[in-house]
This record gives sequence, C-alpha cells and structure tokens, in this order.
Amino acid sequence: MKNRILIKKTLNKVNQEVVLAGFVNSQRDHGKIKFIDLRDMTGILQLVILPAKKEIFEKIDGLKNESIIAVKAIIHKRPGKTINPNLDTGSIEGEVNELQILSTAKDLPFSITSDGYEINEELRLKYRYLDLRRQRLQKNIKLRSQFVQMAREFLFEKNFIEIETPILTKSTPEGARDFVAPSRLHPGKFFALPQSPQQYKQLLMVAGFERYFQIARCLRDEDLRADRGFEHTQIDLEMSYVEREDVMKLDEEMITTIVEKLNYKIKEKPFPIFTYQEAIKKFKADKFDLRNEEEKKKGLLAFAWVIDFPFFEKDKDGHWTFTHNPFSQPKPEHIDWLLKEKNIDKILTTQYDLICNGYEVGGGSIRSNKPEILKKVFKIMGYKEKVIQEQFGHMLEAFSYGAPPHGGLAHGVERLIMILTGEQFLREVQAFPQTSSGRTAVMDAPSKLSKKQLSELNIKINI
Ligand code: AMO
Repeated sequence: MKNRILIKKTLNKVNQEVVLAGFVNSQRDHGKIKFIDLRDMTGILQLVILPAKKEIFEKIDGLKNESIIAVKAIIHKRPGKTINPNLDTGSIEGEVNELQILSTAKDLPFSITSDGYEINEELRLKYRYLDLRRQRLQKNIKLRSQFVQMAREFLFEKNFIEIETPILTKSTPEGARDFVAPSRLHPGKFFALPQSPQQYKQLLMVAGFERYFQIARCLRDEDLRADRGFEHTQIDLEMSYVEREDVMKLDEEMITTIVEKLNYKIKEKPFPIFTYQEAIKKFKADKFDLRNEEEKKKGLLAFAWVIDFPFFEKDKDGHWTFTHNPFSQPKPEHIDWLLKEKNIDKILTTQYDLICNGYEVGGGSIRSNKPEILKKVFKIMGYKEKVIQEQFGHMLEAFSYGAPPHGGLAHGVERLIMILTGEQFLREVQAFPQTSSGRTAVMDAPSKLSKKQLSELNIKINI
C-alpha cells in the first residue's frame, strides 16, 4: 500500500497526514463522533471520525470488528484528560479524512480480546489464524522469532555455518517412532522423516565443516503431552575437536547471552552441574526446579546441567538399550569397558542435559568417531552384524575415512519459549500446532488419499 506507515511510527507524525491500514479492533459511537481503534502488527491507534465526514459514516455503517480498513488520517495530540495511559499511542489520535474498506469480516467464532485459555482447544486450532490474532499469541510468536534470531547471530559470530539436512531420510533410532513417507519411484519403500538431524550433522563433521548449526524441524511419532508434540524445532549444533566442557561452555554462553538480552534474570551463573546420581538422590528425577516460591514469582530462570548418565539401561524385555543417544561416546575412562563388554551397567556416557525450571531444554554429547566403538554400542544392544551394516553401515564407513573428534547439542525451541512466556503447553508457542488428539490445526489432516495417489504409491489400504 502506497506510503503506508506502521502505527508505532505515528508518534513522530503529529500534525501530519499519514496512511494507515489494519484491523478494526473496536468501535465506539459517541453521539455524532465515532471512534475506531485500528490495530496493526505494531500496536493500536485511536481513529476519530468527525460528524462532517458523512460519506465515511455511510461507508462503515454495520462494519464488523476485525474487518480491514485503510485510512488517511491527520495525527493530533490528544487533550490532557483524554490521554489513554494503557496504549503506547495513548497521547495521540488520528482524525480520518479518507477511509477504504479492504476486506469485511463476519462475526468471529470466539473472542480474540481475552487470553483465550477458556476457549475449547479444537475450536481454537480450527480457527488458528484468528486465535493467533490475540495479543498473547502475537507476543509468544514474536518472542520465539527474536530468540531464534539471537541464536543465529550468536552462532554466526562464533563461526558456525548454517546447513540444512534432508527431511526425507532413513529411519534411525532416537527413542521414538518414525513418521514415514512412501516412495513412488521405489515401490514398497519408505522414507522416514527425521527425529533429529543427528547422523547428518555428524557426517558434516566428517565433511570438515567443523562448526554446524541448524534451526531444525524434528518429527517424532510419540505420545503427546503438554510439552511434547509430533513436530518440534531444535537449535541444533555440532562442533569438531571439542571435549564435553567446550560444548557446555559455548552453549551456556549462548543461552546466557540471549536470555539476558531479553531481560530475563538467571538464578545462578555459571550454571550448577549435577551428576545423574546426585540429581536422583537430591530431586528423585533428572529434571528439577531449583527455584523457591519467591524466585518463581519473580520469573527467575534456574538452569542446571546434568552429566554422567548411565550409557545403557534395560528395556522392559530385559535387553540393554541406550538411555540417550547411541552415537554418544562413553566417558573416556569407560571406553575400555565398552569395547570389552564389561561392567555395562556402570558405563557412563558423555551426555549432558540442560535443565531449566523443571524442564529438559537441551541435551547433547561427545560422539564416538571410531567405528569399533559405535559398532560395539549396537552389539551390546543385541543388533546382529547384518542389521548393524544395513542400518548404520554408512556411519561406520564414513568414520573410516578420517572423522574428527566431535560433539554437539540441541535445544528444544518450544520448551525454552514456554519457560520464557510462562506457558504450560507447547501449542501456545507454535503457530500451527497439532491438537492433543494428533490432528493438524486448521487443515483437516491426517486425511485420506485419492485412489489415484494410492495406486501411484502402490499402496493398498487394509481397513
Ligand atoms: P533430544 O531427543 O534430547 O536430543 O532432543 C533435544 C531437545 O529437544 C526437545 N524435544 C522436544 N520438544 C518438544 N517435543 C518433543 N517431542 C521433543 N523431543 C525433544 C527437548 C530436548 O532436550 N540429536 C539429539 C541432540 C544431540 O545429541 O545433539 C536430540 O535430538 O528440549
């Protein structure tokens, strides 16, 4: 729109005519004068339509809130007693000279002026594009964008390279079920959507990039919970020639820099470190909240590292499985036990988890860069040689061409933003989250495929 300016800029435009556009936030009739609160992405401004503007009154007769208008208006200072201290632009208003209706709205299915918690979740997500208009969600989504931008800036500053990895990939074990996509060109075969870029980021270390990061979408078919969705985003990084403390230090600097720039206060710096044993003894869990009631009220952030997790645990069938990440390296002093398949229950991993206010907000490890160590991990978990080759042959081979020692970590973006905004549910910080019954917002998915699509994919539906 020609010459349109944003509402927050109107404060500097007193006595000038400006072009504005946005939603009709609310309307009030005061006898012959009409007030419209206009809303754009930067705020709200009171517009005044004076009695002389008959044609404008006619034009907007019956216009519903949330319709879209554009106006030419002169910005005036408001007289002292009409100043509204609750609005950033409360000291000014716009006297409308011309008004155009760009799009009319019908009645909304729910109010967008409240915080929205009281509204049925399915309804909110069906009309998510309206739900997102509410101030609380606008704030959450903007904070998320700011956070990710600051992470990018920090990492670029530290010489990291942003690299994208495939979405159509191979099924790998990360502790959850895979979402899969059928291949048309290879009938009967399936891609798996990535649970994380774990293997690709390690391959990028073999490729010599040394410092990788990605704002990575991760897909996991797991039981949904308040803080767990099918899709989440990670700030994912990997570094070559590092030890556990190097990754923890860099990450701590990143998190501290970002949250302090955003004006949050950290309870304790450097972040306290607990071994898994200590955490279990003290808190009976590997996630815990270090804040007292007073600190909770003040919104403090209590970060802590947890280290020295057991590498393996028994699954429900009594078989060894990894606790965190099969690609991790055991602590250096336990590598020998692993190679000899000795004291398996005592082998500790280089894994580090970052905890904040009771949530696990990140985790990572130093990886094994030697084929024999990785192979042994799978052997201990009962994988046959043939299966190891089929599933992980590419990693074992990659490590045989010179693989720098490396390690990294990933943060759950949603978990971090939930903590910063005080939200209890992941869906409050994602633009288009799944419903708790596992359906997409707005669009009705999952949905059926046409006969033609199914036949192209060589798929027969068995129900
Ligand atoms: P992990 O599986 O621990 O590690 O995931 C890293 C972080 O991502 C967040 N997270 C989730 N957030 C929302 N919904 C989910 N379903 C979900 N799953 C995980 C958590 C968690 O701490 N590849 C490794 C990282 C590495 O070792 O570098 C990984 O994915 O905040």
